[in-house]
Amino acid sequence: MADHDTRVSAYAARLSGVRKTFGGRQVLAGIDLTIARGEFVALLGRSGSGKSTLLRLLAGLDTPDEHPSDSARANDSARANDSAPTSASAPTTTAEPTGAGVEGGQPDGSGTVASDAADERERSTAGVEDAGDAADRQPVATTTARPPVDVPGRVSVAFQDPRLLPWRRVGHNVRLGLRRPDADEVAERTLAEVGLAGHRDAWPLTLSGGEAQRVSLARALVREPDLLLLDEPFGALDALTRLAMHRLVLELWRRHEPAVLLVTHDVDEALTLADRVLVLADGRIAAEHPVPLARPRRRADLAELRARVLDHLGVSAHAVA
Ligand SMILES: Nc1ncnc2c1ncn2[C@@H]1O[C@H](COP(=O)(O)OP(=O)(O)OP(=O)(O)O)[C@@H](O)[C@H]1O
Ligand SMILES: [Mg+2]
Repeated sequence: MADHDTRVSAYAARLSGVRKTFGGRQVLAGIDLTIARGEFVALLGRSGSGKSTLLRLLAGLDTPDEHPSDSARANDSARANDSAPTSASAPTTTAEPTGAGVEGGQPDGSGTVASDAADERERSTAGVEDAGDAADRQPVATTTARPPVDVPGRVSVAFQDPRLLPWRRVGHNVRLGLRRPDADEVAERTLAEVGLAGHRDAWPLTLSGGEAQRVSLARALVREPDLLLLDEPFGALDALTRLAMHRLVLELWRRHEPAVLLVTHDVDEALTLADRVLVLADGRIAAEHPVPLARPRRRADLAELRARVLDHLGVSAHAVA
């Protein structure tokens, strides 16, 4: 666990009455959710129900609608202090601070050296630049009111599409999210953790789908996130690779102890992995199912819970059995 704010926070994330509207259509209609430190939560919901939207808000990649009371609060605080930030709401989509100097500075094998600006662009292309530390993301609180999106620690995201930069070797892709002098060693160590020791110098296009997804996981993990957001990371994998990835994710979760929010369409995946399974419907958390079973879990022991979750998803268990 990383050594910052979450040590004193009981939660990895807390959402309070979060709303999100796109073009007049309300996708999230008031989400209240607390994810405890180290908790593994799965989020299910029909396509278009807003799962990725919720995840993006947690990652600070997008901002929630303003609460009706926000503008009043903002006005109050603006009056109190003209120079202070005026909202205490969501994390903002702030890239990591750019500094002078060269990050990493190592030749990447293609003879180039990554400057900060170039690195920033590549991190953006790979979708890893935005979810940073709370210190980078979170506006200074100007009131004591609870912000709608409160994520006190580090956040990393892995998407269904691994988003590897094809012109960068695997090791470079992994350390894209990392700013520390020993980035190369950490990247190599993390690659070994996901079963890809020795792949540091491989090109992404030579990897299988499962291997590319492991690289994506490694890239998320190098930052030692307090909150790991996984948006259907196994959706494109075959059944056997998927099972191997489940084992890997559980192993990494036990070792690194981040809180995890896993977005998935797969009810069995959710029930096999998570401490708690949520169903998103009509813009709200429509159902919540704790899974009080030790891991590894047997499918037979999950049958009753599975039927209940499917029911909340509006699917008959018999239709998919
Ligand atoms: N940036 C955006 N601009 C406009 N509409 C958006 C935007 N992002 C999401 N939406 C809309 O919000 C709704 C929820 O989208 P979201 O991607 O969160 O769904 P989802 O639950 O992740 O779906 P899926 O399971 O298919 O991935 C959709 O109707 C989508 O079109
Ligand atoms: Mg989605």
